[in-house]
Amino acid sequence: MYKLAHIGPNNRREPQDGRPEPPAPAADLYPPRTERQRVEDFLTRELISANESLTKGSVVPTHDLEVFRRELAEFDFRVPQPLQKSLEWTIAQMKHGLVHVNHPRYFGLFNPAPTFPAQCADRIVASFNPQLATFTTSPAAVEIEAHVICAVAQRAGFAPGVGGHFTTSGSEANYTALLCALTRSNPQFGSEGARSFKGPPVFYVSRESHLAWLKIAHQVGLGRSAVRLIATDGSGRMSASALEATLNRDLADGFIPTMIVSTAGTTNAGMIDPISACSELARKHELWHHVDAAWGGALVASEVLRPALAGIERADSVTIDAHKWFATTMACGMFITQHPQVLSSTFQVSTTFMPSNLASLDPYVTTVQWSRRFSGLRLFLSLAAAGWSGYARHVERAVELAALLRAGLIADGWSMINESPLAVLCFRPAEGSGQVKSIVNRVLATGRAWVAAAMFEGDGVIRACLTHGETAPEDVFALVQVLRSCADM
Ligand SMILES: Cc1ncc(COP(=O)(O)O)c(C=O)c1O
Repeated sequence: MYKLAHIGPNNRREPQDGRPEPPAPAADLYPPRTERQRVEDFLTRELISANESLTKGSVVPTHDLEVFRRELAEFDFRVPQPLQKSLEWTIAQMKHGLVHVNHPRYFGLFNPAPTFPAQCADRIVASFNPQLATFTTSPAAVEIEAHVICAVAQRAGFAPGVGGHFTTSGSEANYTALLCALTRSNPQFGSEGARSFKGPPVFYVSRESHLAWLKIAHQVGLGRSAVRLIATDGSGRMSASALEATLNRDLADGFIPTMIVSTAGTTNAGMIDPISACSELARKHELWHHVDAAWGGALVASEVLRPALAGIERADSVTIDAHKWFATTMACGMFITQHPQVLSSTFQVSTTFMPSNLASLDPYVTTVQWSRRFSGLRLFLSLAAAGWSGYARHVERAVELAALLRAGLIADGWSMINESPLAVLCFRPAEGSGQVKSIVNRVLATGRAWVAAAMFEGDGVIRACLTHGETAPEDVFALVQVLRSCADM
């Protein structure tokens, strides 16, 4: 342990007898400016060319896993390696060891090719590394995030006075919704937990919803059986009549309904639950109504498409992931609510070490997280660059390309299974043309495109989603061709 140096006249340090100087900063962690600039320039060049080359190569990983694991094991962290060497190695692993969402023939899950402004945001945030727990430490960043949340809420049709914040994910935003619903439903929930309810609390989602709801019920302490998976109407939408029947049965059996969730853009098939019917039922029974628009929420950008979300503006809360169809880098979710005061009763806490404790300002007293990354800058810069009109073009274009894909598949004899107004298609091969899973595996083995095997209304389907903002009609035609060659059609 080193001892404090003596501070002499004119603030000069005077080493004292026998007492060592503190070690110099770790230069490998904090290199000088010239070295940083050189490495940053190298990274910029390498990343641009890596991304260019990957669009011409395989969508799926091509590395040898054994070799990769051997090389990884060599990083035993005993002997420091030059940073550039590790960077080169890492970029090579990213090039060959990932499914590439940046590939225009990635017709994948809701992971987008990220916008360039969002990537710029990450660079700025990594450099300043602001702590967004409190307004006091990062007033500019906290206010930029609040500004974006208000703009998105307004665009979704919410009245002024809403609250909300950026989250790490759609799952965190949905988790926040359940905590708010339980807290509003029973003010004792915060201190006493689920046992303060007069019966077991339950909530309602469709069986086609994103099943992170099961993990959320587990985390909150309600248990997974609290999730009522409501039957769908045969088209992937929650059945309003099944919802009402289940709710009435629960009331008769002594359960305590707390929240109804409408999914606006189901994960498998992009279907939109009957938002207004769910909302009315929630009002009738004084339940929290949450709309999980993690992916579909981006439709608010488009005057043409947003009527599909009608009723979202009356929800008690909404989840929209910027890292899905708004195409920011990960991880960037949003939670928006008409009831900001419920956020502060849910997450309030006071400590002596934090510089302030104001629900109107300090994110750590209104959100799940404490230390927070400045994730909202990604959407701020993307919206600032493209405006709502740019995002409208982005989502409308995806829907048009989905229509093109649909036409190509129908012409080839595939059966279309879902009827989503969004940009995801579920389809099956003609009778006798092969099994869904084996066709998907063959597609992936070509490396020329990425699609998923999924379940829709109990049946196996192939799922293709237009997630890449630069996918072109030629890519869509190429997918049709790859699918044709991988099925016996
Ligand atoms: C409808 C829906 N809700 C929630 C989620 C979970 O979001 P995240 O992966 O950001 O936690 C997803 C993810 O695909 C989703 O599709």
